[in-house]
Amino acid sequence: MVGAGVMGHSVAQVFATAGVEAWLVDVDPAALERAMGLVESNLKTMARFGRVSEADIPAIVGRIIPTTDLAAAAREADFALETVVEVPAVKQEVFHRLDELCAPGVVLASNTSTLDVFSGARVSDPSRLVYAHWFAPPHIVPLVEIAPGPETAPGVMEFVAALMTRLGKRPVVMKQFVPAFIVNRIQGAVQNVVLEMLAQGWAEPEEIDLAVKSSLGVRLPVVGVAQTLDFTGLDLIFDIMKARGEINPLIEAKVTRRELGAKTSRGIYDYDGRTEAEILAERDARYLRVLAVLEEIDVFRSI
Ligand SMILES: NC(=O)c1ccc[n+]([C@@H]2O[C@H](COP(=O)([O-])OP(=O)(O)OC[C@H]3O[C@@H](n4cnc5c(N)ncnc54)[C@H](O)[C@@H]3O)[C@@H](O)[C@H]2O)c1
Repeated sequence: MVGAGVMGHSVAQVFATAGVEAWLVDVDPAALERAMGLVESNLKTMARFGRVSEADIPAIVGRIIPTTDLAAAAREADFALETVVEVPAVKQEVFHRLDELCAPGVVLASNTSTLDVFSGARVSDPSRLVYAHWFAPPHIVPLVEIAPGPETAPGVMEFVAALMTRLGKRPVVMKQFVPAFIVNRIQGAVQNVVLEMLAQGWAEPEEIDLAVKSSLGVRLPVVGVAQTLDFTGLDLIFDIMKARGEINPLIEAKVTRRELGAKTSRGIYDYDGRTEAEILAERDARYLRVLAVLEEIDVFRSI
């Protein structure tokens, strides 16, 4: 890991927890000291919730090697991930140096949230560059979004997806890089709508959050955002679009083919001929389990 801030320390912890030696590089020795302190305290929290054993903490911490010496770390690396500041010139320089210092074939990954780091990268082998975008805090949130740069080799994508799986993460592979990947694009759209509601004074922040937690909060963990359309019914969504004068060709094509969602066993997803009752029974069993957890941890009362 190059960059030992909010993301780097925690990603190093994930590698170390999975039994992998992790070099943690930063230009700032104080950042390394802070990082190692945070790893210790993160691991204590993980132990409290049974995610690591208390007895293993010293060994996990011992597998992280903090250093300001990029060359020493790069010489040892089988995989490199930059988690430095979101500044294009800094990232490009890091990749230039990693490309010089790491052995041939070592995969070089970027944790950028938004930047097109690899177009015009000054590296000898652009086929080994890949995006691997983690979510804070990386030692808890399972997702890593993986996307190719302009010349990334297919084998590199497969390698990184397998590596993330080995670490206990849930990789989602995108067909191409787009700034903000999947989740931050969705989150950005949601943020804009929320900020508009607040600016217009349509609801208080507490009401907005309670509304989201007590509706989307129950559904999103089970059906996500694409599959939720199948439970609304694509015919209803199409009627709403027609009333607004905004036709979406994907929805129009599906409605024309009578692929309306769970009610016809095919919509955005294909339910393999299962009946509507079967699909809804499985959905509801999961909704009820989510609801029980949300109630148990008291999410409808704000922090
Ligand atoms: N913070 C988040 O929630 C989050 C989530 C996903 C992705 N990201 C992305 O991860 C990256 C890092 O974000 P962060 O929040 O951890 O930043 P941060 O500011 O907490 O940490 C960045 C670290 O990089 C170090 N650094 C700067 N230049 C360096 C260099 N040339 N070599 C080595 N170290 C260097 C800094 O000293 C600092 O410790 C960014 O690209 C960001 O967009 C952040």
